[in-house]
Amino acid sequence: MTPDAIEQVRHSYRSLTASERQLSARFYDRMFAASPNLRRLFPPDLTVLQGHFEAALALVIRNLNDMAALKEPLRELGAQHVHWGARPEDYVTARDALVSAIGSLSPEWTAELEGHWRAAITAIIVPMIEGAAVHHALEAERLAEER
Ligand code: HEM
Repeated sequence: MTPDAIEQVRHSYRSLTASERQLSARFYDRMFAASPNLRRLFPPDLTVLQGHFEAALALVIRNLNDMAALKEPLRELGAQHVHWGARPEDYVTARDALVSAIGSLSPEWTAELEGHWRAAITAIIVPMIEGAAVHHALEAERLAEER
């Protein structure tokens, strides 16, 4: 992402922080509407998770100009997500739900801004999916050594 695109995403994020809880609630609503089978993977009460999700999102937005530093933590988060049942395609569902939730709460929303947000969220989900793949590869290696 260009520095200008990053600044646009940060500016847009700041305009959303007043309605933060609303953002994660709307995100989960949209994700479950798009993929109802995902609902059973989550606890019935999403309150705590919404807080975690917002904290993770805020951290990434702050560090968009240095995503290399977040690659490992995001890979680890992706590896953890394997145990929670997240599949690669679910991340695309999550990304689209998040972009759509952000758009629905944004005072100004343009195709350009939507593209920048999509790029920012793609930069989050790619290392998470990689982390899951590494997790599976290590598991396969461990099994191979068992023989
Ligand atoms: C934008 C991508 C995503 C981010 C940034 C993200 C972030 C997080 C964070 C920060 C947590 C809390 C971790 C903790 O408590 O230690 C979490 C938990 C979880 N996530 Fe995600 N997540 C993402 C995508 C997904 C997707 C696609 C799924 C699909 C199944 C998913 C399913 C879960 C589940 C089931 C939990 C645990 C719920 C529990 O506490 O039982 N996440 N996620």
